[in-house]
Amino acid sequence: MKLSALPLAVSVLCAGLPLGVNAAATPDQIVTAMENKFGVYPGERRNHTKGICFSGEFQSTAEAAALSRSPLFQGNAIPVIGRFSQAGGNLHAPDNKPNGHGMALRFTLPDGQLHQMAMLDLPFFDVASPEGFLQKQLATTPDPATGKPDPAKVQAFEQAFPETQRLKQALAGQSRIPAGYHRLSYNSINTFILETADGKATPVRWAFIPAEDQEAYLSNEQAESLGADYLQDRLQDRLDSGDIHWRMELTLANEDDQLTDPSQPWTGPHRVIQAGTLRLHAVETDATAACRTINFDPLRLSDGVKPSDDPVLHARPPAYAISFAKRSQEAARQD
Ligand code: HEM
Repeated sequence: MKLSALPLAVSVLCAGLPLGVNAAATPDQIVTAMENKFGVYPGERRNHTKGICFSGEFQSTAEAAALSRSPLFQGNAIPVIGRFSQAGGNLHAPDNKPNGHGMALRFTLPDGQLHQMAMLDLPFFDVASPEGFLQKQLATTPDPATGKPDPAKVQAFEQAFPETQRLKQALAGQSRIPAGYHRLSYNSINTFILETADGKATPVRWAFIPAEDQEAYLSNEQAESLGADYLQDRLQDRLDSGDIHWRMELTLANEDDQLTDPSQPWTGPHRVIQAGTLRLHAVETDATAACRTINFDPLRLSDGVKPSDDPVLHARPPAYAISFAKRSQEAARQD
């Protein structure tokens, strides 16, 4: 761990004092903490390191066009480059162990604008702030002496960021080992604001729901025999045998919904709009696959979709940019 880069966080942890939610968390500190936790795979992403590229197409509905002027929602067939991934910085993360999973999308819109999304298969986020994200990386970094996170640091983190209990409880007893990337629902988690041509703003969270209505996750026993790398083959096999698609749903915020805290789910009845269909065309696994050189910055948005003031959402682009710059430079040196 580079002490110079993490003075406040490290001193707080070492002193065993309660962690402060107001401790500064710079994107550099966050990426360095991830590198220290997972190690560095030159040329690879610092988070969501293990993944698979794909291409596909998105087509929106008229209901979505009524909420946003974005060309994403005007009913055209939009080409998509995407990436499925395992959360965390382990390039060899075993597919048959519980984890979070991502789906990132880049839409190339008819007018040339790019629009991006990077979503997770979690219903909501574990932490409410970038500080929480940083402190989680620090607290869960394996202790070199034991090869495991120090339980005292994990406990101190959980006490300082009590919101983490919410996701823990929501996922209790659930397996997070996917039956396939095509079976998972992917959620925006952060809130975004849709805007019409006449300026009407609608806060939403979105989700991509798989058409295949089958068990999304496997039990430990079911997963054991599958080995560490079955997700790529399963996706290709499933695509070879037929169509894979997701419905995009927009959930419209109620008056009392939290717009700036991704660790708070929106509960109770909500208006949900069917916004479109994402269809997968091809799985791309070679070293030159298009998604490898994309930075799926979630604030690369088209006109008609704006970010909310969620501080976690705004902490993401600078961290992704650092990861992207590092991996691009490393890849250039490898050529
Ligand atoms: C403070 C909070 C967060 C930080 C600091 C962070 C950081 C990162 C970093 C550094 C990367 C690698 C970027 C690259 O090299 O291209 C990444 C990838 C990713 N993140 Fe986050 N992340 C955060 C929150 C989230 C949230 C809330 C979501 C989902 C709602 C999310 C979804 C993803 C996905 C899907 C990827 C993989 C994108 C790809 O396939 O290239 N992250 N994140």
